[in-house]
Amino acid sequence: MEQVMNRRQFLQNSSVAAAVTASLTASSQGSAQEGSAAPVRIGVVGLGPRGRWHIRNLLEYQKGVTVPAVCDYQTDRAALTVDLVKKLKGYAPETYTRGDKDYLRMLERNDLDGIIVATDVYTLGKISIACLKAGKHVGIEIAGCHTIEECHGLVEEYERSRRQCMLLENCCYGDDNMTVVNMLKQGLFGEPYFSVGSYVHDCRDLFFDAQGKITWRGELWRDAYGSSYPQHGLGSACKWLAINDGDRMEYCQAMMTTPLEAHAWAVKRFGPDSAAARVNFKTGDFVTTLISTAKGRNIRIDYSLSNTRPYSRYYLLQGMNGCWDSLTGIHLRGNEPSQGEAWAPLAQYKPKYQHRYWRKDGELARQSGGHEGIDFFCIYDFVQMVRSGKTPWIDAYDAASWSSLIHCTRLSLDRAGARVEMPDFTGGRWKDPEWRKAQQV
Ligand SMILES: NC(=O)c1ccc[n+]([C@@H]2O[C@H](COP(=O)([O-])OP(=O)(O)OC[C@H]3O[C@@H](n4cnc5c(N)ncnc54)[C@H](O)[C@@H]3O)[C@@H](O)[C@H]2O)c1
Repeated sequence: MEQVMNRRQFLQNSSVAAAVTASLTASSQGSAQEGSAAPVRIGVVGLGPRGRWHIRNLLEYQKGVTVPAVCDYQTDRAALTVDLVKKLKGYAPETYTRGDKDYLRMLERNDLDGIIVATDVYTLGKISIACLKAGKHVGIEIAGCHTIEECHGLVEEYERSRRQCMLLENCCYGDDNMTVVNMLKQGLFGEPYFSVGSYVHDCRDLFFDAQGKITWRGELWRDAYGSSYPQHGLGSACKWLAINDGDRMEYCQAMMTTPLEAHAWAVKRFGPDSAAARVNFKTGDFVTTLISTAKGRNIRIDYSLSNTRPYSRYYLLQGMNGCWDSLTGIHLRGNEPSQGEAWAPLAQYKPKYQHRYWRKDGELARQSGGHEGIDFFCIYDFVQMVRSGKTPWIDAYDAASWSSLIHCTRLSLDRAGARVEMPDFTGGRWKDPEWRKAQQV
């Protein structure tokens, strides 16, 4: 069995962990009220489509936010962003465009309360750690930390800096996903013990630019075999099964099919003699991961960026009193409208159990767009975190443990699907189901 460095070995000193618990508990009791519009100043690093969408979301749909500074070494993207902010709010943010370290200069500003990092997957972890180091709250885009060292580094810096860190895992904020969170909390599913989460998204047309040059997404699929973008499938499963809140992911095993589809696509798109056709994609077309938890619960994560099929995020939660399957519906024993052996639509439970976020602002969220409204609530929580200093629902421990699957699945695949132990980033605090209670949504 492959061992991965344990968080406890990393901290090496339990008194440090105790002090950290006390300080984090204190910082988790922020004073700002939910929905407050006190001014918040956000900087954004990475001004691709995602970073620019965050800026639109912040300025058009969230309350009391300004964006004084933005950073991207691609000057055309910085210019597009300035135009966007001018159009939406009538002012021009200062731009930081002098190369790939210029975000450090932006982090020296004392008029930024928080930073969103929306760069490529290889740089998210490093830049987010630098934000914490500079004393800024940070929101880190998916896929969080790419390496296991970054996972540990993020938690280290979070605990040291006492700044807040939120993984911007928007899929956890889906209307159905949050309804299930609510129903679980109220005991409707009974004891949960099995969950499936999947992210299957044919991104092959983003693997190369129009000239056939490989992009970071292509490089990810070429090099980072394993579950290299796991959080869209994993996040909700972890929240439902109380991972880091009474349970933890103990070990995983991964398998993948032979890589065929990305190469076939490249040949068809750019020709058999092209450079694209010579790229040796190492990620199999379908990656399946099984995770076992300390309490003996299981999670299955299905992942692909190269399947010939429409986009899909499929979820399942099984508890001792029933099941929600995102394709077929919900069945709860002895609870109307579930009857006999039949599935009922989850919608029939919404009048009673829809999460308060969606009940209150669901219409506005859907209008805003952004993956049918999930981005609205994700960024809403990020802004609340920055405004109040309150620890978010999806915090640095979730960011690190969810991201660590990238490393652990690769190790498992190296050993033909062998079991790989997953690190505990909480220093054993996961055993207490209440230790992050103030962060629950
Ligand atoms: N949560 C979601 O649903 C979701 C959706 C789309 C993208 N994403 C994530 O958001 C991120 C951005 O996605 P995108 O499609 O906009 O990618 P992109 O490659 O188009 O944009 C990333 C930008 O970051 C810039 N950048 C990279 N390193 C930098 C550095 N050191 N300093 C300053 N700028 C730097 C690049 O120049 C580029 O403009 C990715 O990590 C992606 O995984 C998440």
